[in-house]
Amino acid sequence: MSVSIPLRALSSGYNIPAIGLGVYQSADAETIVYEALKKGYRLVDTAQEYGNEAATCRGISKFLKETGTNRREVFYTTKLDDATGGYEGTMQLAEARLAEARKGGIDYIDLLLIHAPFSKSPYTETRLAAWKALTELVDGGAIRSIGVSNYGVKHLKEFWDADVKYKPVLNQVESSPWNVRQDIHDFCKSHNVIVEQYSPLCRGNRFKEPGVLKLADKYKKTPAQILIRWSLDKGMLPIPKTDNVDRLSPNLDVFDFNLTPQEVEDLQDLNSYTCYEWDPTVTK
Ligand SMILES: NC(=O)c1ccc[n+]([C@@H]2O[C@H](COP(=O)([O-])OP(=O)(O)OC[C@H]3O[C@@H](n4cnc5c(N)ncnc54)[C@H](OP(=O)(O)O)[C@@H]3O)[C@@H](O)[C@H]2O)c1
Repeated sequence: MSVSIPLRALSSGYNIPAIGLGVYQSADAETIVYEALKKGYRLVDTAQEYGNEAATCRGISKFLKETGTNRREVFYTTKLDDATGGYEGTMQLAEARLAEARKGGIDYIDLLLIHAPFSKSPYTETRLAAWKALTELVDGGAIRSIGVSNYGVKHLKEFWDADVKYKPVLNQVESSPWNVRQDIHDFCKSHNVIVEQYSPLCRGNRFKEPGVLKLADKYKKTPAQILIRWSLDKGMLPIPKTDNVDRLSPNLDVFDFNLTPQEVEDLQDLNSYTCYEWDPTVTK
């Protein structure tokens, strides 16, 4: 059964689905993306780093063709590695992302992110030069919205200090009850930047937490659904990954209940700072 996913407004004027599918380390991105779209997913998240952009786009194209769905109903996100290339290098990486998408039959990117704030001296200037390349591509029309990933508050502030033409529409970060990063939430909220949450299931490592099990019992939901609901009720946009077709629908079946603000808070361990992947938010 296909479900209808709420939309959220980006500062670029476009809408983004409130939950998506991540395809990092997916064994067969084309198939899982196609199956996910059939089950109601409308947002897919990939990256240069994942090596599966064309396969992801083939999954989208197949779905659009077979179902007669309009391209604008599906939201395609990818990322270029980092900002070290400044203006020239970033322009090349972005063009390569478009070329990969075209290989899979997709001719524009809904959202292009800089995967990490890694830069080179002079760090801020290099990051802003990289960003300028992306703003020009937005003006060219092949990329609709631009954003960042793994940016700490220090990196985010640079956009507002420099008064760039387009601000990042979202920041994709790891933020779990065991690594909340409230400073990033606060900055993003006050600057109209959506926090998109990666590794929302903590890679399967937190399903047995007593607080999670208690809520699962109360709401008659699985631990995975409780973690995804925590993300939504924290104000984030989660992108859980699964390679398992049978888990696609359950991971979307989270719109018939809410955690209370107290439950969202109670699940958080503010003394913990566990990263399941990497931590570029603290880079220079
Ligand atoms: N920007 C960044 O730096 C960054 C970093 C990491 C990730 N990401 C993005 O975020 C996405 C999600 O994060 P993630 O892949 O790190 O991890 P995740 O979504 O937290 O967890 C994925 C793991 O949970 C399992 N799983 C999924 N649904 C489940 C369910 N209902 N019950 C039990 N287990 C379940 C999956 O196994 P099966 O596949 O076997 O179901 C997989 O092992 C990535 O795919 C990627 O798009 C971005």
